[in-house]
Amino acid sequence: MRIVLLGAPGSGKGSQAALLREMYGIPHISTGNILRAEVARGTDLGHEAETYMRVGSLVPDEIILKMIAARLGQPDTRRGWLMDGFPRTLAQAHGLAELTEGLGQPVDAGVVLNVDAEVVIRRLSGRRVCASCQAVTNVSAVKSGPCPACGGKLILRQDDDPEVVRRRIQVFEAQTRPVFEFFRQRYDVIEIDASQTVDEVTEALRVGLDRYDHS
Ligand code: AP5
Repeated sequence: MRIVLLGAPGSGKGSQAALLREMYGIPHISTGNILRAEVARGTDLGHEAETYMRVGSLVPDEIILKMIAARLGQPDTRRGWLMDGFPRTLAQAHGLAELTEGLGQPVDAGVVLNVDAEVVIRRLSGRRVCASCQAVTNVSAVKSGPCPACGGKLILRQDDDPEVVRRRIQVFEAQTRPVFEFFRQRYDVIEIDASQTVDEVTEALRVGLDRYDHS
């Protein structure tokens, strides 16, 4: 099963991908997570990416496409994958189509997580990420205290600062929203109301995606 999760920042792509990865036993490929790991390791790529991420801009397409080509070359992707945070521009969408079709592993479907901007802003202001295991949670679920998954320290993501969130939403509207139309014209697309609870969204995804699971 090869699925692309599309949605605004804070629409729940990462949270749902973590659940779907367990449900279907396929890797979750998040360009945001790969970039944050490079930043944490202090690599050249990390240093370059951080200059864009800190202000809510997109990392250049060439860097991202190279990263994805390398990731799709790894053996664990042969059984399928869930893409999260990519593609984010039309150039990336064309690059993904070319790459996956060249590998004989075309995209099965896109999922669009639809949610209003005010919900996104509320969710991102409450998001906390575990500094140890990277699990994502929200202050509405854990009022205080450590990571419910591993007991690690919960921290605010640098780009969840309100001013940076506003910029990320503008960038999403200008550069990423057109990718939805590209998907609707080219692939099966499942539209989900992502303003529902986490469990309701997961169930809607399961209903829409089960037909692509051939394991
Ligand atoms: P990235 O890490 O991809 O961030 P994003 O797309 O902005 O998405 P988020 O991680 O903010 O949100 P999400 O949809 O995963 O929501 P989550 O599940 O966490 O990218 C970060 C940066 O890296 C970019 O700005 C860019 O600079 C760079 N980058 C990455 N990919 C790139 C690319 N392809 N090209 C160029 N640059 C790239 O949920 C959010 C919160 O809501 C959490 O607290 C969660 O607990 C809560 N929540 C989730 N679902 C629900 C629900 N149903 N009900 C209530 N609360 C919920």
